[in-house]
Amino acid sequence: LTHLLTVEGLPRAILTHILDTAESFVPLADRDIKKVPLLRGKSVFNLFFENSTRTRTTFEIAAKRLSADVYNLNINASSASKGESLLDTINNLSAMQADLFVVRHASSGAPHLIAQHAAPHVHVVNAGDGRHAHPTQGLLDMYTIRHYKKDFTKLRVAIVGDILHSRVARSDIHALTTLGVPEVRAIGPLTLLPSGLEQMGVRVFTDMNEGLKDVDVVIMLRLQNERMRGALLPSAQEYFKHYGLTQEKLALAKPDAIVMHPGPMNRGVEIDSSVADGKQAVILNQVTFGIAVRMAVMSIVAGA
Ligand code: CP
Repeated sequence: LTHLLTVEGLPRAILTHILDTAESFVPLADRDIKKVPLLRGKSVFNLFFENSTRTRTTFEIAAKRLSADVYNLNINASSASKGESLLDTINNLSAMQADLFVVRHASSGAPHLIAQHAAPHVHVVNAGDGRHAHPTQGLLDMYTIRHYKKDFTKLRVAIVGDILHSRVARSDIHALTTLGVPEVRAIGPLTLLPSGLEQMGVRVFTDMNEGLKDVDVVIMLRLQNERMRGALLPSAQEYFKHYGLTQEKLALAKPDAIVMHPGPMNRGVEIDSSVADGKQAVILNQVTFGIAVRMAVMSIVAGA
């Protein structure tokens, strides 16, 4: 694996190898892993053309735990704001001996463009591009599900909310089906469900009460208002009434169902605080697992 641009099309063996490698990086009570030398002498550039809290920070922590030198380009203070093109920016950073670019961009395909033009020794990891893909979020979601549920082949997983604009949903669906989850459900209003879900093997529900019945995992998504230019948006109250996860709706899932959310959460819009902070939520554990998963990805693509 030279780059990680998407999970779509990656075979099960590679996904499993990434999850197994991540497991070896998770600190355990009796195994305190602080730093490993796998990327010693390598330069990792974090290029976030879109805002981020979790992904940017956990990539930085992960790269430092792999002993890499890490550089966070402040895009707003960079010459991109003077009109310098994406590829000119990349060429200049490559001239500073970059080994790995972690790229988030509002335009779908931007990390692919960089990977096509980068020097052969340079690696690119997609940290989220437009509506297209968020492969490391997909992988950390799979890590979280495997951690709590063990066997993918016995699960019902529901993804709820704004699936149309969600790169996380797309990456999760590809990863879940590749890893053998027999029933993936998409739940949301028709206006926020993309076409083609059934062809991807997904069961579609517009009634959340129906869709949540007997599921093992509930993945909640945020309304991506920033990607809905000109669309008719439901009010927050209306959306919450039909698609907000409350304790009452969660009771329709299996009693041991886990609740996930990639963040950032809109409390009171797609999820009630009593659920987000409740005992079935594993939302902050997802963030912690993200460090190990990003260590695994970077060590596999750029390690010796
Ligand atoms: N899950 C996720 O991508 O969060 P950030 O936008 O904070 O990185």
